[in-house]
Amino acid sequence: MPKVRDRWAIANWKMNLLPSQTAGYLERLRARLQETQVSVAVCPPYPHLPAATAAAAGSRIRIGAQNLSDRLQGAFTGEVSAAMLQDVGVSLVLVGHSERRRLFGEDDALVAAKMRVALEHGLCPVVCVGEGLQERKVGQTQLWLQHQLQPLWEVAQAFPQAPWLIAYEPIWAIGTGEAATPSIAQETIAFIRVQAEQHLGDIAATLSILYGGSVDPGNASPLALQPAIDGFLVGGASLNPEAFAAIAEALGAAEA
Ligand code: 13P
Repeated sequence: MPKVRDRWAIANWKMNLLPSQTAGYLERLRARLQETQVSVAVCPPYPHLPAATAAAAGSRIRIGAQNLSDRLQGAFTGEVSAAMLQDVGVSLVLVGHSERRRLFGEDDALVAAKMRVALEHGLCPVVCVGEGLQERKVGQTQLWLQHQLQPLWEVAQAFPQAPWLIAYEPIWAIGTGEAATPSIAQETIAFIRVQAEQHLGDIAATLSILYGGSVDPGNASPLALQPAIDGFLVGGASLNPEAFAAIAEALGAAEA
C-alpha cells in the first residue's frame, strides 16, 4: 500500500541549550540519522536559528521555530515575523503549544491567526492541541479538542494544497515523565482524524497527526506502533541528539 501520510520526529528544545551548542547538536544528529527515513525537524529558540539552518544545510533535517507573530511587520517589540523565519531558512513553525496558550495567554483565535500567517508565508505550521488533566478526568476531552480544532479547519480549508501538521499533546503528559498510554494516544488521535475527515474531506488523507508528551527512547516503540500516530513532538528527550535519533529510528522501524 502506498504511504499516504509522512511520519515525523520533531524536536522542541523549548528554552534550552545555547546558540553555541546548536551546530554540535546537529552534527551529532546527522551522524545518527543515516538509517532512518522518517521526516525529521528540530525547533530551537529564535537566536539559534541561523546556526541551525547552516548546520542542517544539505541534510534532510528541517529547522523549525517554536512560535511566530500573527502580525506581518512593524511596531511590535519582541515579536518575530513569518518573513523573518523564512529569511533565515526556517521551514516549519510550532503554533499554539500548550505552554504558549497557558503561560502566555494565546487563545484559539490567535492560534488560528498564526497558523494562517505561517501558511501564507509557505511555512508548515505544527499546530498543537491537547486537554488538561481536569478535562480528561471529567470526560470532556473530545469536547475540548473539538473546540480547539474548530478554528483550524477553516484556515486549512483556505489552503488545501499547503502542508500542515497537528500535534496532540495532552497537558498532563508534558514534562511529567508520564506519557499517554499507547491506547489513549491512539484513541484520541483517531478521534482527531475523524474530525479532520469530516471538515476537510479528501485533503485530510495527507494530514499527519503527531503525539507529544514525555516521549523517550523507552516508550517510543509501542507508541509508534499505533496506527493513528504519525510521529512525535519531543521535548525533554530531544535535548540529547542520540536520544532523539533513537526516537526517530523507533518511528522508522514501526513503519518498516
Ligand atoms: P516533553 O517531551 O518534555 O514532555 O515535552 C513535550 C512537548 O511539549 C513537546 O512540544
